[in-house]
Amino acid sequence: MELTLTLDATSGKPLQVQVFDQVREIILEGKLKAGMALPASRLLAERLGVSRNTVNTAYERLAAEGYVKARGTAGVFVEPIPPDSLLLIQRGGQAQTNGPIPDEVGEPLLCFAGSPGGGGDRPEFDFWVGRSDPAGFPLRIWRRIVNRLLSRETAYLTDYCDPAGLPELRTAIATHLRRARAVAVTEDQVVVTTGGQDALNLVFNLLKGHTRQLCIENPCYLGASLIFRSAGMTIHPVPVDGDGLRIDLLPRDRGSLLYVTPSHQFPTGAMMPVTRRLELLRWAEETDSYIVEDDYDSDFRYDGPPLTALAGLDGARRVFYVGTFSKSVGAGLRIGYATVPRMSWDEARMLKARMSNGQAWLEQAALAAFIDEGHFDRHLRRLRQLYKSRRDCLVRALRKTFDEPVILGAESGLHLVWQLPNGFPPARRMQVLARERGIGVYVCFGVQL
Ligand SMILES: Cc1ncc(COP(=O)(O)O)c(C=O)c1O
Repeated sequence: MELTLTLDATSGKPLQVQVFDQVREIILEGKLKAGMALPASRLLAERLGVSRNTVNTAYERLAAEGYVKARGTAGVFVEPIPPDSLLLIQRGGQAQTNGPIPDEVGEPLLCFAGSPGGGGDRPEFDFWVGRSDPAGFPLRIWRRIVNRLLSRETAYLTDYCDPAGLPELRTAIATHLRRARAVAVTEDQVVVTTGGQDALNLVFNLLKGHTRQLCIENPCYLGASLIFRSAGMTIHPVPVDGDGLRIDLLPRDRGSLLYVTPSHQFPTGAMMPVTRRLELLRWAEETDSYIVEDDYDSDFRYDGPPLTALAGLDGARRVFYVGTFSKSVGAGLRIGYATVPRMSWDEARMLKARMSNGQAWLEQAALAAFIDEGHFDRHLRRLRQLYKSRRDCLVRALRKTFDEPVILGAESGLHLVWQLPNGFPPARRMQVLARERGIGVYVCFGVQL
């Protein structure tokens, strides 16, 4: 395929960055699909009138960030899933009803270009979805805890941890869940994982043998839908509305495994009311189904009392709860967890041993101490204030600037959805216009509530 790139030598932006940006955009827009080859660097360099080095540097960066892969002398090919599209969302003018899930690679996605920590060309005002503020990381306390651990307990560095996770951390997580989310679990029901994604994988693998079909929300968190789709089973995408998942549209066949984000639907932000939560639990019992509850950002609720998690209402042990410290402390820690019914814990622990033989000791031990010593609660209180004031500022600005803006999912979590008013340019165009003014907003297609 011919790539149409326009370089501007006077823009002040290095040429290799311009090549990288534009090729990445073309991949994320789905015009260059998985498996397609990029033009040979020599040819592209000639066409653009730049040095081959410029193109090679851009290609190397695209490869380093996982968009493409060089296959020896055969060329450079687009990878199936751009890494930073994991947080997204399908497109289409209308809310989707049951039917095939669109191909996230081929369709324009909510694009997460690069990562703030990994450098890259970030806009000055970046409304990056779901990331904690690096300035909010409790570095001083963390350093103190880590230094203390390293000065006393280095033997753990040369040993294996319990594959289910450090017992102190499991206890701290269980205590936090009982208090903050009304989930009645003990440490022998918690498995510590490499972030929420690993926890979703663990639960999926634990339950797939009991599963006849898979159900996901529509729209759905791409990280979860990718796991489900790798199974080669029938998938039912179930639409969401302003109250989250439409229980009335769930299949009635027996033996489903459902992925759901009831406290802050990803991406719409809808919060499932308790009546619907109870209906959902009834559905699970009646159809002999299981539910994976992804409670990815529930530590941040700004208005009203904390919500009881679905797992906290579940008397029948049909909900496998998944949480993460990626939003509350930092995604770089890569610590999450799954809770499982007590009778499934041994199996989950063995499975985790098979998957990765447990987690790194130091981060687990530091996090356990951070929670135990009360720092985590204080940290959450501080961050809630900070994020609430930012949320308020954003909502105020939208209300001041636009007539009755439709804002969704602002009561909690680390993102909200602003529905573009009628007559505005299409979302994707708005994204580009905002970007030109140094503002990063991210597009969520096809959400109609
Ligand atoms: C809805 C949702 N679930 C789960 C995760 C998993 O997060 P992590 O693997 O970083 O813990 C994310 C991350 O952004 C998310 O947005």
